[in-house]
Amino acid sequence: MTTMRAVRAHKRGGPEQLVYEDAPRPVPAAGEVLVSVHAASVTNGELAWDATWTDSFDGSGSDRTPIVPSHEVSGVVAELGPGVTGLSVGDGVYGLIPFTRDGAAADFVAVPVDALAVKPSRLTHCETAAVPLAALTAWQALVGRASLTSGQHVLIHGGAGGVGSFAVQIAAALGARVTATASARNREFVSGLGADRVIDYAGERFEDHVDGADVVLDTVGGDTQARSWSVLRRAGTLVSIVQPPNPDDAAARGAQGVFFVVEPDRAGLEAITALIDDGRLTPVVDRVVPLSRTRAAYEALQSEHPRGKIVIQVTEDDADGATA
Ligand SMILES: NC(=O)c1ccc[n+]([C@@H]2O[C@H](COP(=O)([O-])OP(=O)(O)OC[C@H]3O[C@@H](n4cnc5c(N)ncnc54)[C@H](OP(=O)(O)O)[C@@H]3O)[C@@H](O)[C@H]2O)c1
Repeated sequence: MTTMRAVRAHKRGGPEQLVYEDAPRPVPAAGEVLVSVHAASVTNGELAWDATWTDSFDGSGSDRTPIVPSHEVSGVVAELGPGVTGLSVGDGVYGLIPFTRDGAAADFVAVPVDALAVKPSRLTHCETAAVPLAALTAWQALVGRASLTSGQHVLIHGGAGGVGSFAVQIAAALGARVTATASARNREFVSGLGADRVIDYAGERFEDHVDGADVVLDTVGGDTQARSWSVLRRAGTLVSIVQPPNPDDAAARGAQGVFFVVEPDRAGLEAITALIDDGRLTPVVDRVVPLSRTRAAYEALQSEHPRGKIVIQVTEDDADGATA
């Protein structure tokens, strides 16, 4: 059996369960690609999800331990499973790996080909690994669920966050007028991403500044979501990635309220790649740690609030990533 380096958890729990060890190298099944991982990234909350530990989202499926975490990958195609077309060995690829399978904190990961796209040529692998989950969430919210178009006004809550920072850039690239909420310390950062106006959520009430928005993107939930109906135009759309909007509130406003969970999506990634290679979308990387320090990366998410992603570097040669 061929082995590889991996970070795995043999028992359900938090970062304390993660061990750096040898593990069997996966073999790509039909429709899958074996990716030689150059970089992966970690997501807050991931170790608490049922999908991380079982093969279902509600925990009703089979136990998958030992599991490999980290579902965002950037790497190079090492082997094609039966029936795979459209990619070749040596191609640089990236993607969001379905949460109900092993992730990319390892030398290799087997990924369904539909979840992968060709890697942006402008970015290194470490920068690329910061893209898939947050950028796809922002893309699927603004384009897939809200059909945001040029000239429309969008209010983005949490514009400095992982999803919000991509959402501000994507909305601006689509030609929308962008208002974002953020803490005062992040005002310049969010303006620099392309927001026309930034509202300090702690010191101001966004309702005093926004009226008749076509779309609200809620990355915060709770009271922020409840107060957002009043700034939406009739027949506008409130998309939440945190909690389902109250249907009575939506009906009272003549608006639609949508909640969804991000999905692997090659077409979405291809659109995101085009924006990145045009220079209109840039990921934010907080720091890069080696594979052996993956556990520390998950611990950091529990105690800090990083600006951007914590990325796991798996190969030493990321400098050549921009051409892979
Ligand atoms: N449904 C899905 O598919 C999906 C996908 C990804 C994430 N999520 C969820 O979406 C949420 C956001 O994720 P993320 O990765 O973007 O989180 P994050 O990076 O932690 O960012 C959250 C942001 O919220 C801001 N914030 C906090 N309180 C606020 C308030 N009252 N008003 C406005 N902004 C406020 C913070 O701003 P400051 O830093 O400026 O204080 C922070 O930047 C999380 O709950 C996550 O689990 C869901």
